[in-house]
Amino acid sequence: NVSPRVRKITASFIRHLHDFARENEITVDEWMAGVELMNEAGRMSDDKRNEGQLVSDIFGLETLVDEITYKLASDAQDEPTATAILGPFWRKDAPLKAMGDTIVSGIESKDRTWMHGTVTDFTTGKPVEGAVLDVWHTAPNGLYEQQDPNQPDMNLRGRFTTGKNGKYDFYCLRPVPYPIPFDGPAGKLLQALDRHPYRPAHIHFILTAPGYKPIVTQIFDRSSKYIDDDAVFAVKDSLLVDFKPCQGDPKADFELPYDFKMATY
Ligand code: DHB
Ligand code: FE
Repeated sequence: NVSPRVRKITASFIRHLHDFARENEITVDEWMAGVELMNEAGRMSDDKRNEGQLVSDIFGLETLVDEITYKLASDAQDEPTATAILGPFWRKDAPLKAMGDTIVSGIESKDRTWMHGTVTDFTTGKPVEGAVLDVWHTAPNGLYEQQDPNQPDMNLRGRFTTGKNGKYDFYCLRPVPYPIPFDGPAGKLLQALDRHPYRPAHIHFILTAPGYKPIVTQIFDRSSKYIDDDAVFAVKDSLLVDFKPCQGDPKADFELPYDFKMATY
């Protein structure tokens, strides 16, 4: 009872794999090395580490599939907010927070950021009520909370729900560039390709709202190192943002205005 879609893409996958092996005259030893790499990725993976996804991402596969799925890659004005890959570090059930709350816990920083903006319907320009903004980013040491035993559970994560005016605001940190984990198969492949493991500074979002298409995306610090050389190819022009020095707010060193635009089904 296999679906026609699964039957079709499995046959196509096998055809391409055979072509690949013939074209490169893959030997038994080389094939075994590939099998061992897959096994190692499997052994390393658990709820805190998704090595299979890392491997697919350094091949640019998640970014390609994102583009195929959402077809929102255009950088034109008056489009819904562009999508970007989910990555391996999202966690469900991030803490529900009130507008104006902080997602930062137990970290001293001079990069405290007040992020704020409006969620609108991209066709009408009207505010979207009941939009849930799920946000997550790394600590200044370059680690997401689940990678780092020294951070409190769910640190630097939160969910914020818009009211009638569609506005949101919260405190976070200005993120830093950091390497994807490179102590496993993904790292070995990067090394074989003579590539670095770094991603430019970014903040992740999942935006959902009743009646609207969900948006999985990231915003990128325009001035960040690696902005033109993301190890997992996720940067888009329309997702570049500028952190501005913040005056008059004792809780923030930077201000980050950003509006999200959603599309109905
Ligand atoms: C990947 C994505 C991320 O956002 C990240 O922080 C690390 C790795 C990835 O796509 O592999
Ligand atoms: Fe990330």
